[in-house]
Amino acid sequence: MIRLGVIFGGKSVEHEVSIITAVQAMNKIDSNKYEIIPIYVTKELEFYTGYPLREIDNYKDLSLLKRNTKKVQIVRINNQVYLQTLGWFKRLIKEVDVIFPIGHGSYLEDGSLQGMVKMLDIPCVSSDQLASAIGQDKVVQKLMYKASNIPTSNFVWFYDFEFIDNKESILEQIKKLNYPVIVKPATLGSSVGIKVVKSEEEIVDAINQAIEYDKKIIVEEVIKNLKEVNISILGSQENFELSVIEEVGSKNDFLTYEDKYINGSKSRKGMANSSRIIPANINEKLANDVRTIAKEVYKVIGLSGVVRLDFLIDENKEKVYMNEVNTIPGSLSFYLWDKTNKTYTEELDEMISTSIREYKKESKKIRTFKTNILEGFSGLKGLKGIKK
Ligand SMILES: Nc1ncnc2c1ncn2[C@@H]1O[C@H](COP(=O)(O)OP(=O)(O)O)[C@@H](O)[C@H]1O
Ligand SMILES: [Mg+2]
Repeated sequence: MIRLGVIFGGKSVEHEVSIITAVQAMNKIDSNKYEIIPIYVTKELEFYTGYPLREIDNYKDLSLLKRNTKKVQIVRINNQVYLQTLGWFKRLIKEVDVIFPIGHGSYLEDGSLQGMVKMLDIPCVSSDQLASAIGQDKVVQKLMYKASNIPTSNFVWFYDFEFIDNKESILEQIKKLNYPVIVKPATLGSSVGIKVVKSEEEIVDAINQAIEYDKKIIVEEVIKNLKEVNISILGSQENFELSVIEEVGSKNDFLTYEDKYINGSKSRKGMANSSRIIPANINEKLANDVRTIAKEVYKVIGLSGVVRLDFLIDENKEKVYMNEVNTIPGSLSFYLWDKTNKTYTEELDEMISTSIREYKKESKKIRTFKTNILEGFSGLKGLKGIKK
């Protein structure tokens, strides 16, 4: 049995969404193959483990849930990773072989957790820390798209303090994009802090609002005659698969937080329960463009695990623009894979086994030398001796 630590929650605007995705996924992971160890990260970034974390209803009363579970830390001792209780009598209560992060936004999706797992030196079922960090930063992503000739909307970006120091010149650059524009905090998700701005009068307010959420701000030209489509990719750089393309719709100017989570939340099926059409209602040329761009993005960012790539299409111009990647997509995109060729259980199994395979390959690379060059080291004055 592979002991699988499923980590979810965390300090993010998408905390609750992540709990729903994780509980749903834990119910679908093949329990004959994997021992599932839930690891809930609170909004205070503390770790808890225990069976009650597998029941969604238990999250209604968090203090009760914490009392019924164990607060732990993750440690590596003698080449094995454990969950260890805190306090005076530290006990090693669970062994963990693989970490599966199921969270959105800061800490769990943005490379922080991926870096921590890398230090623990066990497989992590997601993109690595670099790809995850890039995936969380709309500015870095778009700079990479531009550099790689991947079509994406034109944009201006700046830091919060620059907007105070050079407001006029930034507003001048934004004007060149042509209004309407869309203002976004660069590293959040779920449309939080995003606003479409129709004219110059509203721009300062919108930027100030975005600054409340982030130190890095991006302002983009608005793609007109908009159709939004997404595709999921599953696998590794060496061997990956593309899902069917979905089309997502919204009654608003753009998909808001409410569209994504609140309107559909009654049914609970529905993370990102905005209206969707699968497969997307687009012609074969556009579908091919989406797939071609998706493969380029997958390579350029260095993605793995299961990811969802989001596109904006100008239907009149028949032009596809890369918008953003989600390195831990809502519901892990299972609703795309079950319409492609695999059940959720198969998808999860493939994700986990791919990450173990990739970890083993990576482990064969040279990372350290057997000899200790400090053996004969006799203080700083002896430095010359080392070079001999
Ligand atoms: N350049 C753009 N032109 C038109 N609509 C956009 C543009 N960028 C974003 N949107 C709309 O805003 C929504 C949220 O933007 P997105 O960049 O995907 O942020 P998030 O990370 O919050 O999902 C998109 O789903 C789309 O509806
Ligand atoms: Mg989006």
